[in-house]
Amino acid sequence: MSNSIPVITIDGPSGTGKGTISGMLSKELGWHFLDSGALYRLVAVGAEKKGISYSNINDLVDFALAMEVQFSTQFDGSIELNGEEVSALVREESSAGKASQVAAIPEIRQALSKRQRVFRQPPGLVADGRDMGTVIFPDALCKFFLTASPEERAQRRYKQLINKGLSVNLRALLQDIQARDERDSNRAVSPLVPAEDAHVIDTSDLSIDEVFTQVLLITRQALTKST
Ligand code: DC
Repeated sequence: MSNSIPVITIDGPSGTGKGTISGMLSKELGWHFLDSGALYRLVAVGAEKKGISYSNINDLVDFALAMEVQFSTQFDGSIELNGEEVSALVREESSAGKASQVAAIPEIRQALSKRQRVFRQPPGLVADGRDMGTVIFPDALCKFFLTASPEERAQRRYKQLINKGLSVNLRALLQDIQARDERDSNRAVSPLVPAEDAHVIDTSDLSIDEVFTQVLLITRQALTKST
C-alpha cells in the first residue's frame, strides 16, 4: 500500500545544500520531510547522554529502536528527543562526527531503516540522507545526488558557523569533512554512493536557487510522467 505513496530522495555528502533543497522541495510540494541524518545524530547524542558506549551495540540498538523523536512540522528545525528539545546539540559539528561513527554500525542502520520508512505517508515524502535512493526507498519516484568539492563545502560550513558567531578554523573543517567523507563512502554497509538512476548535480558553482530550479523541474517532469 505504502509503495503507491511517492518519494523523492535527495542524497549526498554534507555541505552540498541538500538539507536546504529538501526542505524547500517538501514545502513546495506540501509533502512530508525526513531528515535521516538527524536520526543518526539523535542516536549518537542520546546514547552519550545515557552513558551508552558506541561499542555496546545491543544497548545502542535498543536505544535507537525505543527513542521517542518529535520533529517540528513548522520547518523551524526544532527536534525533541524523549521530551527534551535538543536541536542545538544535534546540529553541533561534533554531533555530526559522532553520528558518522554510529552510522557505520550495520545493526544501527538496520534499526533505523524501519523508522525511516514510517515517514512515507500521503501525499508524499521528500527524504534527505546518504542512502535514501539506494537502500531505504529504492523505488523512489525521483532520485537526486548532490555533490560539491570538499573545499567548497568547507567554505560554506565556515561561513555558516562564522555567521553564528562561532570561532572556527577552515583547515580543520576541511579535514573533518574529508575524514567524514572517507568514513561514509568506504563503510561496508550502505556507503555514500549515488543510485544508478539518480540525477547527479554538482552544486559547487550553483546558488541554492539555481539548484532548486533544476530539482523542481526534474521532479515536476517525473510527477507528470507518473500520472
Ligand atoms: O546529514 P547529516 O550531516 O546530518 O548526517 C550525519 C551523519 O549521519 C553523516 O556523517 C552520515 C550519517 N548518515 C548516514 O549514514 N545515512 C543517512 N541516511 C544520513 C546520515
